[in-house]
Amino acid sequence: MSTFRNFKMVDYVVFGRGAFGQLDGILAPRRQGGAPMVFLVDHFFRDKPAFLSRVPQRGKDRLLFADVTEEPSTRQVDGLRDQIRAECGAISGIVGIGGGSTMDLAKAVSLMLTNAGSSADYQGWDLVTRPGVYKVGIPTLSGTGAEVSRTAVLLGPEKKLGLNSDFTPFDQIVLDPDLIAGAPATQRFFTGMDCYVHCIESLQGTYLNAFSRAYGEKALELCRQVFVEKDGWDGDSDERLMMASYAGGMSIAYSQVGVAHAVSYGLAYVLHTRHGEGNCIVFDQLEEFYPEAVREFRGMLQKHRIELPRGVTRGLSEAQVEKMVTVSLGMAPLWANALGEDWQRKMTRERLRALYARL
Ligand SMILES: NC(=O)c1ccc[n+]([C@@H]2O[C@H](COP(=O)([O-])OP(=O)(O)OC[C@H]3O[C@@H](n4cnc5c(N)ncnc54)[C@H](O)[C@@H]3O)[C@@H](O)[C@H]2O)c1
Ligand SMILES: [Fe+2]
Repeated sequence: MSTFRNFKMVDYVVFGRGAFGQLDGILAPRRQGGAPMVFLVDHFFRDKPAFLSRVPQRGKDRLLFADVTEEPSTRQVDGLRDQIRAECGAISGIVGIGGGSTMDLAKAVSLMLTNAGSSADYQGWDLVTRPGVYKVGIPTLSGTGAEVSRTAVLLGPEKKLGLNSDFTPFDQIVLDPDLIAGAPATQRFFTGMDCYVHCIESLQGTYLNAFSRAYGEKALELCRQVFVEKDGWDGDSDERLMMASYAGGMSIAYSQVGVAHAVSYGLAYVLHTRHGEGNCIVFDQLEEFYPEAVREFRGMLQKHRIELPRGVTRGLSEAQVEKMVTVSLGMAPLWANALGEDWQRKMTRERLRALYARL
């Protein structure tokens, strides 16, 4: 008999326009004496006083800005952990408010406040051994699925890989579509396409089962409604995209992502290309793997007037290309999902080098 994954999910979910206003009440029973809550807020909100005034700080609570100019690294996580320990001592919990990068930072810092050593030691699968401190995720961009996933993706000294564990999912998430309403159209597109790509990779992967299909099909339908069918963007689009991200994340929880993610990880490691944009650059060149979806994707690019960067791997050194190929081929489960258990015969170093050269 095969063994089925028994995966840990987010404990509490609140969804709705204005739900952010309930945060104070949600946190109240989680406060341990005078120990502060730490609010880790995406630096995009640094000069948004109206928003910051709604963060329910009490007593000795701290608000720290997450610098997400670059996507999160193990060094940044360790630094934040040290800072929080030094400045706050024991805390009641950490609340990450921002895009996928800020949410991953919050998850990882929560875990590193209770697990010894560097976060780089925990990049991989099921290496985390202790629950982190209470952690809350509040997305201000939708698409990554980081709000529901059991990973926190970090760029480390040797690899870009998540802290995948049963202790990684948030204890609470607050899904308030109003918080994503102000995102610039290009950023919204790139992050939204992360969800679209999750759906395609999950639905066309070999790991697919009825659980993943149910969530993946729903997420794909919602993505199509907002990016293909509707003209213009409104509050209803924010709600649909927020639920697409959630369902897309649930879909890959029980399956896996595929070629676009495997290739885009190599790009991110060497060139620090951001996740959503990198996936789009790669997906555009994946007609041989996902022909119909790539055609649909190109239609969405046109409709939303998105110009993808071209020639991003031009002029790279031999060593850099080799590193990209190595990082990408290191994502074995992604390739196995996309191409089957004999993926190594199908995706040789040469074939992957040629793919990178086209980006
Ligand atoms: N844990 C997971 O399961 C998972 C899955 C996919 C991706 N990721 C990670 O998520 C990250 C990508 O997340 P993302 O696409 O949400 O972007 P992001 O968090 O990297 O943010 C992109 C930019 O948008 C800004 N921003 C955030 N909210 C905004 C808002 N409301 N309005 C305007 N600007 C805003 C940020 O400051 C940043 O400059 C990557 O680090 C990737 O590795 C994690
Ligand atoms: Fe992704």
